[in-house]
Amino acid sequence: MTDALPATHPLVDGRTADAPLVRTARLLDVPRTPVWFMRQAGRSLPEYRAVREGVPMLESCFRTDMVVEITMQPVRRYGVDAAIFFSDIVVPLKAIGVDLDIKPGVGPVVAEPFRTAADVDRLRDLESDDVATVLAAVTALTDELGTTPLIGFAGAPFTLASYLVEGGPSRDHARTKSMMYGAPQVWHALLERLSGIAGSFLRQQVLAGASAVQLFDSWVGALPSRDYREYVLPHSRAALGAVADLGVPRIHFGVGTGELLADMRDAGADVVGVDFRVPLSEAVRRVGDGVALQGNLDPAALFAGPEAVAARVDQVLDDAAALPGHIFNLGHGVLPGTDPDVLMAVVEQVHARTSR
Ligand code: CP3
Repeated sequence: MTDALPATHPLVDGRTADAPLVRTARLLDVPRTPVWFMRQAGRSLPEYRAVREGVPMLESCFRTDMVVEITMQPVRRYGVDAAIFFSDIVVPLKAIGVDLDIKPGVGPVVAEPFRTAADVDRLRDLESDDVATVLAAVTALTDELGTTPLIGFAGAPFTLASYLVEGGPSRDHARTKSMMYGAPQVWHALLERLSGIAGSFLRQQVLAGASAVQLFDSWVGALPSRDYREYVLPHSRAALGAVADLGVPRIHFGVGTGELLADMRDAGADVVGVDFRVPLSEAVRRVGDGVALQGNLDPAALFAGPEAVAARVDQVLDDAAALPGHIFNLGHGVLPGTDPDVLMAVVEQVHARTSR
Protein backbone atom coordinates (compact mmCIF):
# COMPACT_ATOMS: atom_id res chain seq x y z
CA MET A 1 0.00 0.00 0.00
CA THR A 2 2.91 2.32 0.79
CA ASP A 3 5.32 0.80 -1.75
CA ALA A 4 6.05 4.10 -3.40
CA LEU A 5 7.34 5.66 -0.18
CA PRO A 6 11.05 5.57 0.72
CA ALA A 7 12.06 2.88 3.25
CA THR A 8 13.01 5.64 5.71
CA HIS A 9 9.56 7.24 5.64
CA PRO A 10 7.95 7.20 9.13
CA LEU A 11 4.91 5.31 7.83
CA VAL A 12 7.18 2.62 6.38
CA ASP A 13 9.84 2.30 9.09
CA GLY A 14 7.08 2.02 11.67
CA ARG A 15 7.36 5.30 13.60
CA THR A 16 3.91 6.60 12.70
CA ALA A 17 2.25 3.50 11.19
CA ASP A 18 0.35 2.84 14.43
CA ALA A 19 -0.28 6.47 15.40
CA PRO A 20 -3.92 6.95 16.45
CA LEU A 21 -4.48 9.56 13.72
CA VAL A 22 -3.22 7.22 11.01
CA ARG A 23 -5.14 4.22 12.33
CA THR A 24 -8.34 6.24 12.66
CA ALA A 25 -8.10 7.43 9.06
CA ARG A 26 -7.81 3.77 8.06
CA LEU A 27 -10.89 2.93 10.16
CA LEU A 28 -8.84 0.73 12.52
CA ASP A 29 -9.38 0.60 16.29
CA VAL A 30 -7.35 2.99 18.48
CA PRO A 31 -6.48 3.21 22.20
CA ARG A 32 -7.96 6.73 22.33
CA THR A 33 -9.45 9.34 20.03
CA PRO A 34 -6.71 11.41 18.34
CA VAL A 35 -6.96 15.19 18.70
CA TRP A 36 -5.26 18.12 16.99
CA PHE A 37 -6.41 21.65 16.15
CA MET A 38 -6.47 23.50 12.86
CA ARG A 39 -4.29 26.61 13.36
CA GLN A 40 -2.79 25.13 16.52
CA ALA A 41 0.48 26.75 15.45
CA GLY A 42 -0.09 30.46 15.44
CA ARG A 43 -1.14 33.62 17.14
CA SER A 44 -2.85 32.09 20.17
CA LEU A 45 0.60 31.03 21.43
CA PRO A 46 2.93 33.56 23.13
CA GLU A 47 5.95 31.49 22.04
CA TYR A 48 4.75 31.84 18.43
CA ARG A 49 4.43 35.61 18.70
CA ALA A 50 7.93 35.77 20.17
CA VAL A 51 9.49 33.80 17.28
CA ARG A 52 7.57 35.74 14.60
CA GLU A 53 8.45 39.19 16.04
CA GLY A 54 9.49 41.39 13.10
CA VAL A 55 9.40 38.59 10.49
CA PRO A 56 6.68 38.84 7.79
CA MET A 57 4.37 35.81 7.57
CA LEU A 58 5.43 34.63 4.11
CA GLU A 59 9.11 35.06 4.87
CA SER A 60 8.69 32.88 7.96
CA CYS A 61 7.12 30.13 5.80
CA PHE A 62 10.30 29.85 3.71
CA ARG A 63 12.72 29.82 6.68
CA THR A 64 13.43 26.21 7.57
CA ASP A 65 14.37 26.86 11.20
CA MET A 66 11.25 28.94 11.87
CA VAL A 67 8.90 26.44 10.25
CA VAL A 68 10.35 23.63 12.38
CA GLU A 69 10.18 25.62 15.61
CA ILE A 70 6.62 26.93 15.07
CA THR A 71 5.29 23.53 13.98
CA MET A 72 6.76 21.94 17.12
CA GLN A 73 5.43 24.52 19.59
CA PRO A 74 1.86 23.19 19.97
CA VAL A 75 3.08 19.58 19.95
CA ARG A 76 5.36 20.29 22.92
CA ARG A 77 2.75 22.32 24.76
CA TYR A 78 -0.40 20.24 24.25
CA GLY A 79 0.79 16.73 23.41
CA VAL A 80 -1.58 16.71 20.44
CA ASP A 81 -1.75 13.59 18.25
CA ALA A 82 -0.49 15.34 15.12
CA ALA A 83 1.58 18.32 14.01
CA ILE A 84 0.18 20.53 11.28
CA PHE A 85 2.94 21.88 9.08
CA PHE A 86 3.42 25.61 9.59
CA SER A 87 2.96 27.20 6.19
CA ASP A 88 0.15 28.82 4.23
CA ILE A 89 -2.01 27.80 1.30
CA VAL A 90 -0.43 30.51 -0.90
CA VAL A 91 3.17 29.31 -0.33
CA PRO A 92 3.37 27.18 -3.51
CA LEU A 93 1.93 30.08 -5.55
CA LYS A 94 4.54 32.44 -4.14
CA ALA A 95 7.17 29.78 -4.88
CA ILE A 96 6.35 29.76 -8.60
CA GLY A 97 6.52 33.53 -8.79
CA VAL A 98 2.97 34.81 -8.29
CA ASP A 99 3.24 38.32 -6.83
CA LEU A 100 1.29 38.06 -3.58
CA ASP A 101 1.61 38.82 0.10
CA ILE A 102 -0.15 37.93 3.34
CA LYS A 103 -1.42 41.11 5.00
CA PRO A 104 -1.88 40.89 8.78
CA GLY A 105 -5.57 40.88 9.71
CA VAL A 106 -6.58 40.54 6.03
CA GLY A 107 -5.06 37.40 4.52
CA PRO A 108 -3.52 36.71 1.11
CA VAL A 109 -3.53 39.65 -1.33
CA VAL A 110 -2.61 39.18 -5.02
CA ALA A 111 -0.95 42.12 -6.82
CA GLU A 112 -2.46 41.36 -10.25
CA PRO A 113 -5.65 39.29 -9.95
CA PHE A 114 -6.31 36.49 -12.44
CA ARG A 115 -9.20 37.28 -14.80
CA THR A 116 -8.52 35.95 -18.33
CA ALA A 117 -7.26 32.91 -20.23
CA ALA A 118 -3.88 34.62 -20.59
CA ASP A 119 -3.63 34.86 -16.80
CA VAL A 120 -3.79 31.07 -16.50
CA ASP A 121 -0.40 30.90 -18.22
CA ARG A 122 1.12 32.82 -15.32
CA LEU A 123 0.93 29.53 -13.39
CA ARG A 124 3.56 26.91 -14.06
CA ASP A 125 4.10 23.51 -12.42
CA LEU A 126 5.65 23.39 -8.96
CA GLU A 127 9.07 21.69 -8.80
CA SER A 128 10.60 20.55 -5.56
CA ASP A 129 13.48 23.02 -6.05
CA ASP A 130 10.92 25.86 -5.77
CA VAL A 131 10.16 24.86 -2.19
CA ALA A 132 13.51 23.37 -1.14
CA THR A 133 13.66 25.26 2.19
CA VAL A 134 10.06 24.27 2.93
CA LEU A 135 10.69 20.58 2.24
CA ALA A 136 13.87 20.70 4.33
CA ALA A 137 11.62 21.66 7.24
CA VAL A 138 9.36 18.68 6.56
CA THR A 139 12.33 16.32 6.73
CA ALA A 140 13.76 17.92 9.88
CA LEU A 141 10.34 17.78 11.54
CA THR A 142 9.87 14.14 10.71
CA ASP A 143 13.07 13.39 12.63
CA GLU A 144 12.09 15.54 15.58
CA LEU A 145 8.47 14.33 15.84
CA GLY A 146 9.25 10.63 16.29
CA THR A 147 5.93 8.79 16.60
CA THR A 148 3.77 11.91 16.14
CA PRO A 149 2.59 12.21 12.52
CA LEU A 150 3.20 15.40 10.56
CA ILE A 151 0.21 16.53 8.51
CA GLY A 152 1.24 18.23 5.30
CA PHE A 153 -1.33 20.36 3.51
CA ALA A 154 -2.34 22.35 0.47
CA GLY A 155 -5.11 24.74 -0.44
CA ALA A 156 -7.74 23.13 -2.66
CA PRO A 157 -8.13 24.43 -6.23
CA PHE A 158 -11.36 26.36 -5.54
CA THR A 159 -10.04 28.22 -2.50
CA LEU A 160 -6.75 29.05 -4.25
CA ALA A 161 -8.66 30.24 -7.33
CA SER A 162 -10.84 32.43 -5.15
CA TYR A 163 -7.78 34.31 -3.83
CA LEU A 164 -6.23 34.58 -7.30
CA VAL A 165 -9.40 35.77 -9.05
CA GLU A 166 -10.70 38.08 -6.33
CA GLY A 167 -7.22 39.39 -5.54
CA GLY A 168 -7.84 38.83 -1.83
CA PRO A 169 -10.40 37.54 0.65
CA SER A 170 -14.00 37.86 -0.51
CA ARG A 171 -17.40 37.54 1.10
CA ASP A 172 -19.50 36.80 -1.96
CA HIS A 173 -16.91 35.35 -4.40
CA ALA A 174 -18.63 37.34 -7.17
CA ARG A 175 -15.65 37.54 -9.54
CA THR A 176 -14.82 33.88 -8.92
CA LYS A 177 -18.37 32.85 -9.75
CA SER A 178 -18.53 35.13 -12.77
CA MET A 179 -15.50 33.32 -14.24
CA MET A 180 -16.91 29.92 -13.25
CA TYR A 181 -20.34 30.50 -14.81
CA GLY A 182 -19.43 33.00 -17.55
CA ALA A 183 -16.13 31.58 -18.83
CA PRO A 184 -16.15 27.92 -17.82
CA GLN A 185 -13.25 27.00 -20.12
CA VAL A 186 -11.00 29.55 -18.48
CA TRP A 187 -12.22 28.37 -15.09
CA HIS A 188 -11.46 24.72 -15.76
CA ALA A 189 -8.05 25.58 -17.21
CA LEU A 190 -7.26 27.59 -14.09
CA LEU A 191 -8.42 24.85 -11.72
CA GLU A 192 -6.50 22.23 -13.66
CA ARG A 193 -3.29 24.18 -13.14
CA LEU A 194 -4.09 24.70 -9.47
CA SER A 195 -4.89 21.05 -8.88
CA GLY A 196 -1.53 20.19 -10.44
CA ILE A 197 0.24 22.61 -8.10
CA ALA A 198 -1.67 21.47 -5.01
CA GLY A 199 -1.15 17.80 -5.90
CA SER A 200 2.60 18.30 -6.43
CA PHE A 201 2.93 20.18 -3.17
CA LEU A 202 1.13 17.41 -1.27
CA ARG A 203 3.23 14.73 -2.94
CA GLN A 204 6.49 16.52 -2.21
CA GLN A 205 5.58 16.94 1.46
CA VAL A 206 4.70 13.25 1.77
CA LEU A 207 7.90 12.08 0.04
CA ALA A 208 9.84 14.38 2.40
CA GLY A 209 8.26 12.67 5.44
CA ALA A 210 4.68 13.84 6.10
CA SER A 211 2.48 10.97 7.37
CA ALA A 212 -0.88 12.47 6.38
CA VAL A 213 -2.19 15.36 4.29
CA GLN A 214 -5.09 17.76 4.54
CA LEU A 215 -6.61 19.54 1.56
CA PHE A 216 -8.18 22.79 2.78
CA ASP A 217 -11.13 24.00 0.70
CA SER A 218 -11.99 26.72 3.17
CA TRP A 219 -14.35 28.77 1.03
CA VAL A 220 -16.07 26.13 -1.11
CA GLY A 221 -19.16 26.28 1.13
CA ALA A 222 -20.10 29.27 -1.07
CA LEU A 223 -21.29 26.81 -3.75
CA PRO A 224 -24.41 24.70 -4.13
CA SER A 225 -23.90 20.97 -4.59
CA ARG A 226 -24.65 21.00 -8.31
CA ASP A 227 -21.99 23.61 -9.03
CA TYR A 228 -19.50 21.94 -6.72
CA ARG A 229 -19.85 18.70 -8.66
CA GLU A 230 -19.48 20.38 -12.04
CA TYR A 231 -16.82 23.02 -11.39
CA VAL A 232 -14.79 21.83 -8.41
CA LEU A 233 -15.05 18.14 -7.62
CA PRO A 234 -12.96 16.81 -10.57
CA HIS A 235 -10.13 19.17 -9.68
CA SER A 236 -10.13 18.42 -5.95
CA ARG A 237 -10.23 14.73 -6.82
CA ALA A 238 -7.17 15.22 -9.03
CA ALA A 239 -5.27 17.03 -6.25
CA LEU A 240 -6.05 14.24 -3.75
CA GLY A 241 -5.34 11.66 -6.44
CA ALA A 242 -1.75 12.91 -6.70
CA VAL A 243 -0.93 11.10 -3.45
CA ALA A 244 -3.37 8.17 -3.75
CA ASP A 245 -0.65 5.65 -4.63
CA LEU A 246 1.38 6.61 -1.54
CA GLY A 247 -1.18 5.22 0.90
CA VAL A 248 -1.05 8.22 3.28
CA PRO A 249 -4.23 9.25 5.07
CA ARG A 250 -5.93 12.12 3.25
CA ILE A 251 -8.19 14.61 5.03
CA HIS A 252 -10.46 17.03 3.17
CA PHE A 253 -11.99 20.02 4.95
CA GLY A 254 -14.11 23.05 4.15
CA VAL A 255 -16.19 25.61 6.03
CA GLY A 256 -19.95 25.89 5.64
CA THR A 257 -19.99 22.61 3.73
CA GLY A 258 -22.94 20.88 5.38
CA GLU A 259 -24.73 20.71 2.04
CA LEU A 260 -21.57 19.42 0.32
CA LEU A 261 -20.38 16.70 2.70
CA ALA A 262 -21.40 13.80 0.46
CA ASP A 263 -19.94 15.54 -2.59
CA MET A 264 -16.66 16.19 -0.81
CA ARG A 265 -16.52 12.54 0.21
CA ASP A 266 -16.62 11.73 -3.50
CA ALA A 267 -13.36 13.65 -3.97
CA GLY A 268 -11.70 10.59 -2.49
CA ALA A 269 -10.24 11.49 0.92
CA ASP A 270 -10.12 9.00 3.81
CA VAL A 271 -11.36 11.59 6.30
CA VAL A 272 -13.95 14.32 5.79
CA GLY A 273 -13.55 17.42 7.98
CA VAL A 274 -16.81 18.82 9.32
CA ASP A 275 -17.28 22.42 10.45
CA PHE A 276 -19.22 23.27 13.61
CA ARG A 277 -22.59 23.81 11.90
CA VAL A 278 -23.49 20.13 11.45
CA PRO A 279 -23.40 17.65 14.36
CA LEU A 280 -21.14 14.67 13.64
CA SER A 281 -24.09 12.32 14.18
CA GLU A 282 -25.83 14.04 11.23
CA ALA A 283 -22.64 14.36 9.17
CA VAL A 284 -22.11 10.59 9.22
CA ARG A 285 -25.63 10.14 7.89
CA ARG A 286 -24.70 12.39 4.96
CA VAL A 287 -21.32 10.78 4.09
CA GLY A 288 -21.97 7.15 5.03
CA ASP A 289 -19.68 4.90 7.04
CA GLY A 290 -16.87 4.46 4.52
CA VAL A 291 -14.83 7.40 5.81
CA ALA A 292 -13.72 8.80 9.17
CA LEU A 293 -14.85 12.27 10.23
CA GLN A 294 -12.80 15.09 11.73
CA GLY A 295 -14.22 17.83 13.91
CA ASN A 296 -16.04 19.80 15.12
CA LEU A 297 -16.03 21.93 18.26
CA ASP A 298 -16.92 25.56 17.53
CA PRO A 299 -13.67 27.56 17.99
CA ALA A 300 -15.71 30.47 19.35
CA ALA A 301 -17.07 28.24 22.13
CA LEU A 302 -13.57 28.05 23.63
CA PHE A 303 -14.18 31.47 25.20
CA ALA A 304 -17.25 30.34 27.19
CA GLY A 305 -15.55 29.26 30.45
CA PRO A 306 -14.29 25.84 31.59
CA GLU A 307 -17.64 24.22 32.37
CA ALA A 308 -19.32 25.28 29.15
CA VAL A 309 -16.28 24.19 27.13
CA ALA A 310 -16.19 20.79 28.85
CA ALA A 311 -19.90 20.27 28.19
CA ARG A 312 -19.41 21.08 24.49
CA VAL A 313 -16.44 18.73 24.20
CA ASP A 314 -18.63 16.01 25.70
CA GLN A 315 -21.34 16.85 23.18
CA VAL A 316 -18.95 16.42 20.26
CA LEU A 317 -17.75 13.08 21.68
CA ASP A 318 -21.37 11.96 22.19
CA ASP A 319 -22.19 12.93 18.61
CA ALA A 320 -19.17 10.92 17.45
CA ALA A 321 -20.13 7.75 19.30
CA ALA A 322 -21.37 5.85 16.24
CA LEU A 323 -18.76 7.02 13.72
CA PRO A 324 -16.51 4.46 12.02
CA GLY A 325 -13.59 6.75 12.95
CA HIS A 326 -13.27 10.13 14.68
CA ILE A 327 -10.42 12.63 14.79
CA PHE A 328 -11.27 15.34 17.31
CA ASN A 329 -10.67 18.88 16.04
CA LEU A 330 -12.32 22.26 15.97
CA GLY A 331 -14.93 23.17 13.36
CA HIS A 332 -12.43 25.72 11.96
CA GLY A 333 -9.09 27.19 13.05
CA VAL A 334 -8.10 28.34 16.54
CA LEU A 335 -9.02 32.02 16.96
CA PRO A 336 -6.09 34.33 17.79
CA GLY A 337 -7.35 35.30 21.28
CA THR A 338 -7.85 31.70 22.48
CA ASP A 339 -6.35 30.86 25.91
CA PRO A 340 -3.81 28.03 25.38
CA ASP A 341 -4.79 26.53 28.75
CA VAL A 342 -8.31 25.98 27.41
CA LEU A 343 -6.93 23.99 24.47
CA MET A 344 -4.75 22.00 26.88
CA ALA A 345 -7.86 21.11 28.90
CA VAL A 346 -9.66 19.99 25.72
CA VAL A 347 -6.80 17.65 24.79
CA GLU A 348 -6.80 16.17 28.30
CA GLN A 349 -10.56 15.73 28.31
CA VAL A 350 -10.67 14.03 24.91
CA HIS A 351 -7.84 11.67 25.86
CA ALA A 352 -9.27 10.88 29.31
CA ARG A 353 -12.79 10.26 28.11
CA THR A 354 -11.92 8.12 25.12
CA SER A 355 -9.16 5.91 26.60
CA ARG A 356 -10.08 2.29 26.10
O1 CP3 B 1 -1.60 25.51 12.84
C1 CP3 B 1 -1.78 25.79 11.64
O2 CP3 B 1 -2.83 25.42 11.07
C2 CP3 B 1 -0.70 26.57 10.96
C3 CP3 B 1 -0.57 26.49 9.52
C4 CP3 B 1 -1.54 27.25 8.64
C5 CP3 B 1 -1.57 28.67 8.42
N1 CP3 B 1 -2.43 28.92 7.40
C6 CP3 B 1 -0.76 29.67 9.12
C7 CP3 B 1 -1.19 31.09 9.09
C8 CP3 B 1 -2.48 26.68 7.80
C9 CP3 B 1 -2.88 25.21 7.72
C10 CP3 B 1 -3.01 27.74 7.02
C11 CP3 B 1 -3.96 27.50 5.95
C12 CP3 B 1 -4.72 28.62 5.39
N2 CP3 B 1 -4.28 29.88 5.05
C13 CP3 B 1 -6.06 28.52 5.01
C14 CP3 B 1 -6.88 27.27 5.12
C15 CP3 B 1 -7.32 27.05 6.51
C16 CP3 B 1 -8.41 27.94 7.00
O3 CP3 B 1 -8.17 28.67 7.96
O4 CP3 B 1 -9.51 27.90 6.43
C17 CP3 B 1 -6.46 29.76 4.49
C18 CP3 B 1 -7.84 30.14 3.98
C19 CP3 B 1 -5.32 30.60 4.50
C20 CP3 B 1 -5.21 32.00 4.02
C21 CP3 B 1 -4.86 32.89 5.16
N3 CP3 B 1 -3.58 33.03 5.62
C22 CP3 B 1 -5.71 33.66 6.00
C23 CP3 B 1 -7.21 33.77 5.83
C24 CP3 B 1 -4.91 34.25 6.98
C25 CP3 B 1 -5.35 35.09 8.16
C26 CP3 B 1 -5.08 36.54 7.98
C27 CP3 B 1 -5.13 37.26 9.32
O5 CP3 B 1 -4.11 37.83 9.69
O6 CP3 B 1 -6.18 37.21 9.97
C28 CP3 B 1 -3.59 33.85 6.73
C29 CP3 B 1 -2.39 34.18 7.52
C30 CP3 B 1 -1.90 33.09 8.41
N4 CP3 B 1 -1.69 31.80 8.02
C31 CP3 B 1 -1.52 33.24 9.75
C32 CP3 B 1 -1.05 31.99 10.19
C33 CP3 B 1 -0.48 31.65 11.53
C34 CP3 B 1 -1.59 34.55 10.53
C35 CP3 B 1 -0.48 35.46 10.15
C36 CP3 B 1 0.40 35.83 11.31
O7 CP3 B 1 0.61 35.04 12.22
O8 CP3 B 1 0.94 36.95 11.25
